[in-house]
This record gives sequence, C-alpha cells and structure tokens, in this order.
Amino acid sequence: MNPQDQSWSEAAAWYEREFIDPHLPGVRSPLRRALLALAKRGAKVVGDLGCGIGPLLPLLAKKFEQVVAVDFAEGMLNRAREKASDRRNVRFVQASMTDLKELEGQLDVAVSINSLVMPDVREQEKALRSIRAALKPDGWVLGILPAMDGVHYVTSLLLDRALESGKPIDLARKNAAHLNDHADYDFAFGQFRFQGLEQHFWQPYEIRYRFRRSGFRVVQQKKVRLSWKQFAGWRELKKYPAPWDWFFLARPDVTMEASQ
Ligand SMILES: C[S@@+](CC[C@H](N)C(=O)[O-])C[C@H]1O[C@@H](n2cnc3c(N)ncnc32)[C@H](O)[C@@H]1O
Repeated sequence: MNPQDQSWSEAAAWYEREFIDPHLPGVRSPLRRALLALAKRGAKVVGDLGCGIGPLLPLLAKKFEQVVAVDFAEGMLNRAREKASDRRNVRFVQASMTDLKELEGQLDVAVSINSLVMPDVREQEKALRSIRAALKPDGWVLGILPAMDGVHYVTSLLLDRALESGKPIDLARKNAAHLNDHADYDFAFGQFRFQGLEQHFWQPYEIRYRFRRSGFRVVQQKKVRLSWKQFAGWRELKKYPAPWDWFFLARPDVTMEASQ
C-alpha cells in the first residue's frame, strides 16, 4: 500500500464527520438526473470509481444492470460492501483508478465523485486515460470535482463579513483564513492537505484542459450547490448562494488518440 491508499483507508472510519458531502439532501446537483438519463438511453454497466463508503451504490444498483465499485482503499471498500450487502448486481474491485486494466472496454458509464483528486497532475491524467480505456467506445464519464474557486468564494464572503463587523483588513484576513482553513491549502497548485490526505481541488478552467489532454471532450460543466450547513459561519452566510463543487459530463474524443 502506498501512503495515500493507507490514509484513505484510515479516513473511512471518520469519513462522514469531516468531508463535504455532495449527497446530502440540501445539495442541488445535476448528477442524479444525468445518471438516470444515461440509464434510460440503455447504459447497462456502470463503474463507481473511487466509490468510498458507497453512498451512490444503492441508486446505481437500482438503475443499472451491473455495477462495478472500485476503490484502492480497503477500509473504504469494506464500508461500501456493508452498504450494498443486499445488492446482487454490485461487484467490488480493489484497484487504483490509474490502472483499470481489469475493466478494459467494459463500462458504459464511469462515475467519479470527488475521487479524481490525485495530488500529482500526471496521476490525474493517467487515471483519466485509464478511465477512457475502461469505457466502451460510446461510453460516458461523469462526476463531481472539488472546486478550488468555491473555496475562494467562501473566503470572500468571510472577509466581507469580518470587515463589515468593523475589523481592520489584516485582522479580517486572518479571521477569514482561519475559518476557511487556509493553513491546509496550497492555493498556487490547488492542493488541500488534511489528516495525511493530499487532494487536488480543481479550478473551473482546468477541467476542459486536463480532460482534453487525456482524450475526453467535456460536454457539460455545471455547479453543484453544496449544503451551507457544512461550512464554518454558515448561519450568517446562508443568505448568499451556497458554495459549489463542479459537475462534469464527458465522452471519449474519438478525433483524438489518447496516448496510453
Ligand atoms: C472524497 S472520497 C469520495 C468517495 C465517494 N465517491 C463519495 O462520493 O462519497 C474519495 C475516494 O476516492 C478514493 N480514491 C482516491 N484516489 C484513488 C485512486 N487513485 N484509485 C482508486 N480510488 C481512489 C479514495 O480511497 C476515496 O474512497
């Protein structure tokens, strides 16, 4: 196990306590509708890549004929197995998204919810190319990416709130940085480090750029409006639109041969 597998495995025990959750009832997300549309168009085999503790598995198992739940972290897979113990059409695979040889050419749909977070951009592209190879030629990949611009948005709101309460600019900045956990971010390179995990948070321009380099054409990119309740200071900020992550829907670009 490399350290990131290990850290993700350990995170399975406290996952719900610390992670921003795009599956909460208050979240406004295009994901469910997009998945149902693909199932309705005849997609049968879906891969939940980086399935984590398995929040999406019940829906996928209901709407698709076969589900392959993939994660490289054993702790996550153990919890996902419990979550889907009554679903006969879910198969579990312990593998890295950077090496999905076992699934080559098998998936109609690949879903990645906050799992394309590899800190090294070369690993992100390796994972995207390996997803491309796991898809059937007319397959789709969709999912959610953690948004770095969403983090900056919350900082702006917190800064204005502190200024409006009469704090001088240096104290207002300190207050916003503290409440929004700036010590855990490397904003220049889009990294977030927490409890031994290092994750990449995406800027909106990066999505088309990185997917294109890896042989995909992005057909939709939309905001997922998260639940304010998961953010520090939310009671005073909830009059503003909620922070977001990025939803994407992409297809293999057949005009481009992705280098493997
Ligand atoms: C933030 S969690 C999201 C889990 C789940 N998709 C959800 O929506 O709750 C990220 C998941 O991706 C997995 N992951 C991260 N990098 C991975 C990789 N290279 N290969 C396989 N799984 C990976 C982690 O183990 C973790 O379970």
